[in-house]
Amino acid sequence: MNLALIDSIRLEANTKLDPNNKSLFGQFMTPAKVAMFMAKMLSEGSVTEEPNLLDCGAGVGTLTSAAVHCIKNIQSIEQWEIDPIMKPYLESNTRALGLPFLTHYSDFIEDAVNNIKNNTGTRFTHAILNPPYKKINSNSSYRKLLRSVGIETVNLYTAFIALTILLMKDGGRIVAIVPRSFCNGTYYRPFRKLMLEHCSINKLHLFDSRVSTFQDDDVLQENIIISLVKGRSISEVVISTSNSDDLENIELNTFKTSEIIIEHDPESFIRFPSEAKFIQNSKLFKHSLLDLGIKVSTGPVVDFREKSSLIKDLKDTTLPIIPMPYPHHFVNGIIEYPKQHKKYPNAILKTEKLSKSFWPSGYYVLIKRFSSKEEKRRVVAYLVTPTSFESSLLAFENGWNVLHFEKHGLQKSIATGLTCFLNSMEVDNYFRVFSGHTQVNATDLRNMLFPSKDLLEAMGEKYSPEMNQQQIDSIVESFK
Ligand SMILES: C[S@@+](CC[C@H](N)C(=O)[O-])C[C@H]1O[C@@H](n2cnc3c(N)ncnc32)[C@H](O)[C@@H]1O
Repeated sequence: MNLALIDSIRLEANTKLDPNNKSLFGQFMTPAKVAMFMAKMLSEGSVTEEPNLLDCGAGVGTLTSAAVHCIKNIQSIEQWEIDPIMKPYLESNTRALGLPFLTHYSDFIEDAVNNIKNNTGTRFTHAILNPPYKKINSNSSYRKLLRSVGIETVNLYTAFIALTILLMKDGGRIVAIVPRSFCNGTYYRPFRKLMLEHCSINKLHLFDSRVSTFQDDDVLQENIIISLVKGRSISEVVISTSNSDDLENIELNTFKTSEIIIEHDPESFIRFPSEAKFIQNSKLFKHSLLDLGIKVSTGPVVDFREKSSLIKDLKDTTLPIIPMPYPHHFVNGIIEYPKQHKKYPNAILKTEKLSKSFWPSGYYVLIKRFSSKEEKRRVVAYLVTPTSFESSLLAFENGWNVLHFEKHGLQKSIATGLTCFLNSMEVDNYFRVFSGHTQVNATDLRNMLFPSKDLLEAMGEKYSPEMNQQQIDSIVESFK
């Protein structure tokens, strides 16, 4: 394949595109070098049947040309392309391949849904795609059409892949270049489930640089290449990484599928352990809580079991009470106590029954177990100090994970450093690689790695609870 020629056709067609349609149809065409890389990926592994190729959203046909160049013995090609401006380029590029081909200048979603529903049309052994990227509104006709074949998704690119999956023969292979948002976004969960129900991931390619895959189109979207095999259970996934300017300098790592998709993960997140490895090489992620001599427990007081002992308004009782902090008592990291809340109390009665659940006041780090949707970070930590609640004992509710030392407070500098570290975006990114769920469990924190005591203390010296995200991140980054 003449890469320079096909790239010049792509760039020429690019100048002809209607700027409005460019966004409407998600027209960011694949550079020939990336297309060849994808086609090589698609050509690896055997398919017993006579190969036939699908390219949906074919553009000027770069991916089709690359696939025909790399896959031996392709018998026929089928393409879909909605934009008539592409037609002359697509037709001449495809004709030049000298194989039987059928191009539908129509809507792939409509046609594919019909073919799936009515069991008509072709089923494929190979598919290569760079699908359009565009949000699908919840009431749109696309959404309804897709739903009619069991596809629930929010973007054209995942709709294209899901339909492609349903149009593949058993053992068929798909290679697609797509934004990586589907790997962990909650909205993409039904798509991930469908994909993993029908296919195994056998390869993933990550681009180191965010910028250059579609540099001719100024696209900043972070893309990955995914390779799927339909109806086969594959125990290993090869993850390759490159700087997108240089697709020849590639690092390959093989992982167990169970490291990429964790069993029983209700979200079916797709994780990149190679990134976790990179994170782990950082000084910030070296020691477990156990190494640091710190314990983590869920708060021992379960409020709904103690309803009759909960005190909302401190004026309501003369009996001895113990302060019970909740997230609303922390405003931008600073404690406001007591504070009325329609749902949560300020304190709990000091009863004999609960005496073992009250801990002496001191420096503790409280981490929310359940973060709200509005929260930018998954891990949200607050610092409690001996003066926060003017009480010698504290009651920690079960919605908290509490960092402590044998049910007593921590050293001040360590507690302050931990609060700073845990509230950083570095930790949030790290956490997302490891944890599939939105909750933060004590086990997650036990499995997580932290900086050394010295680093935590040094962070603690610079940190104060009223700091904003940028300030916290710049402290943590300065210790990287
Ligand atoms: C991201 S571009 C990729 C083009 C080409 N596959 C490539 O890699 O260079 C997506 C293509 O899908 C086409 N497209 C968008 N919506 C479509 C639809 N509903 N049916 C068929 N083609 C569509 C666009 O016109 C565009 O050419």
